[in-house]
Amino acid sequence: MSQSKSQASNDVASVGPASPVDPNDRAEQRPVWAWIDRSALRHNCRRAVTLADGRDVIGVVKADAYGHGAEVVAQTMLASGVKRLAVVSIGEGATLRNAGITAPILLLGGIQSRVAAIQSSQHNLTPVIDDEQGLLLASGSLDSEAKRAVEVEIEVDTGMRRMGVLEDDAAGLIEKVMAAPGLRLSGVYTHLARADEADPEPSRAQCLALAKAIRGLPESGAGRPSIHVVNSGGLFRLNEFESGQIETDAVRPGLMLYGLSPFADRSAVELDLQPVMTLEAQVVATRRVSAGTAVGYGGEWVAPVDTTIATLPLGYADGMPRALKGRGKIFLAGEMRPIVGRISMDSLCLDVGDAAVEVGDLATVFGLTPGGERVPVEKFAEDAGTIGYEILVGIGQRVQRRTTDGSPTERARK
Ligand SMILES: Cc1ncc(COP(=O)(O)O)c(C=O)c1O
Repeated sequence: MSQSKSQASNDVASVGPASPVDPNDRAEQRPVWAWIDRSALRHNCRRAVTLADGRDVIGVVKADAYGHGAEVVAQTMLASGVKRLAVVSIGEGATLRNAGITAPILLLGGIQSRVAAIQSSQHNLTPVIDDEQGLLLASGSLDSEAKRAVEVEIEVDTGMRRMGVLEDDAAGLIEKVMAAPGLRLSGVYTHLARADEADPEPSRAQCLALAKAIRGLPESGAGRPSIHVVNSGGLFRLNEFESGQIETDAVRPGLMLYGLSPFADRSAVELDLQPVMTLEAQVVATRRVSAGTAVGYGGEWVAPVDTTIATLPLGYADGMPRALKGRGKIFLAGEMRPIVGRISMDSLCLDVGDAAVEVGDLATVFGLTPGGERVPVEKFAEDAGTIGYEILVGIGQRVQRRTTDGSPTERARK
């Protein structure tokens, strides 16, 4: 068994005095990078704008823009035709306001306390309310000095059975909010539960239920709130779902803006979407092992033949699901290489066979390889028994986020 030496030690002498470590910077200088490709994001935004067919695009940037970094994503989206944003927490909204973003921000998570209501109002967020308690809290956040009304939106539960005012109670709440002094109802929406399924009927039924719930609203003009229904899946099927059921003026996609397909049976390529995040790591160790050698915790995987093991500095603390044991693959040295043994907290092992892999070689976990080949995050997620959303938001804070326009160059990677 042989072990290669870390190249890093050879470089120490050539590096100047180290800059002090910023204790607030949780991203460490390990050779793992989540590249955020702004040109891909712009492309996907333009796709959304085209599909929206004149409706406003509300870019969903909750959970740190699905793990991509909310500030840069929000700024790029707004410069690419997205008109409004949606977050879940006040902290997420405040981060965007502190970054100088002035576009309307919908607070999907709503307000559950007086403090939250005041903070939401201070940051000029638009909280979603779905009952009288929300109405009271929003009214309580009114500042008698403030010149502007507090904007709120109402979510109507038409089938998701998760949040929102039930469709039968919606008209009453809408009326009360519209009559409440100092509040302005700027939107009413519902969320689709089954937009990714072949059968359009459940989604059409949800659209119709919302249409019924908003019958009392003014038909047009300044008093008419924005009406929106579709997420990414629905955006690709806008006419199928909404035509003849409801008139909307906005759409609310998240996933497709990040370049992922919302459908199990249609790829991102087929939908003309480009991956925004590419997750890369350099090999930090290699070793040749003989047949019968057990690898990793518990020795669960045993090499069937003599082979080379390459170790990547990515583990479950970085968002690599342990469920990938014996299932997932990662692109390295021109091929998809199987993950072998249990995933550790900080590393995982690949079986690279007889390939001449060295410390410092670059592996692509998902996204675009340096040669431009696609390694879909959707497949990586499927191997782990989960969905792309969970993989993206799970990429840990120790992974450096770096923005790029197109594929990062070799120079940028160093
Ligand atoms: C209320 C609401 N609208 C829109 C979205 C965006 O959905 P997607 O990422 O599937 O486009 C979400 C995300 O889950 C959501 O919760």
